[in-house]
Amino acid sequence: MKEIIDKISELKEQRNATILAHNYQIGEVQEIADFVGDSFALSKKAKETACDVIVFCGVHFMAETAKILSPQKTILLPVRDAGCPMADMVTVPDVEALRKAHPDAAVVCYVNSSAEVKAVSDVCCTSSNAVSVIRSLPNHRIIFIPDENLGDYVARQLPDKEIILFEGYCTTHKRVTLEETDAARKAVPDAKLLVHPECRPEVVAKADFAGSTSQIIDYVTNAEDRRFIIGTEQGVLHWLKQKHPDKKFYLLSQKLICPNMKKTTLKTVLTALETMTYQIRLSEQIIERAYGSLEKMLRI
Ligand code: 13P
Ligand code: SF4
Repeated sequence: MKEIIDKISELKEQRNATILAHNYQIGEVQEIADFVGDSFALSKKAKETACDVIVFCGVHFMAETAKILSPQKTILLPVRDAGCPMADMVTVPDVEALRKAHPDAAVVCYVNSSAEVKAVSDVCCTSSNAVSVIRSLPNHRIIFIPDENLGDYVARQLPDKEIILFEGYCTTHKRVTLEETDAARKAVPDAKLLVHPECRPEVVAKADFAGSTSQIIDYVTNAEDRRFIIGTEQGVLHWLKQKHPDKKFYLLSQKLICPNMKKTTLKTVLTALETMTYQIRLSEQIIERAYGSLEKMLRI
């Protein structure tokens, strides 16, 4: 393992590359990354970091977002088919049909969407800022794509807005049931339950806190409590256990594994740097339009 890590650092220097990793990546990949974070923090890093190449250890829409924000950089996704099923659930014709049906509504797209969908949306958001992005819009009606669970969560926080939901969902978070949640609560009654808003509404309703992956990590860091039930993908446990050896963590469900996030390994990162693959390529027109939606989000 040391040999492969040494080769990665050597090549990283040669290529003037930065490695970004999402909180759901396997521990070994998080360890070699220059920065680990949630979708929002990674987008900002991709834009601000001075380098020629970004190796994006995450899923396809995240690497695409990095390309939109930094078109002059070479963005590498180590595993070509590391996708997000939720992002593939909404298409440009879906957005067009919704706009036609609700002409007065603003289209807000969750960052878990393709560059093409971002290009036809009004503004983008992540799980960490969905409420503040939607609150800031003058429109009363909002078309929210593609995650119906995050949309439902936002609607509950902003009762003055009318949120039109789309039937997209995360195939990993949706697997967590209310029964499992009740059982987990019963098993560790003094633990705080922290969940991602991609979970079903009935699961989110039982939580002490709902937020993005980094917001969940921050909650633990700032809390006096000692036990936490974590209702998001198990990758976040890597950092949590390391930074908080005095605290105890319980994964809400053993089903909380995103298979696509687990495809990236040290070997694939090394191959990405050796062969400069797989490069994210987008047309100038898509970049320009999608940039508008992302830029608006970053300004809020
Ligand atoms: P975060 O924005 O919280 O990092 O989540 C991204 C994601 O894909 C959640 O499943
Ligand atoms: Fe997509 Fe869900 Fe995996 Fe996140 S956890 S990348 S939303 S499938």
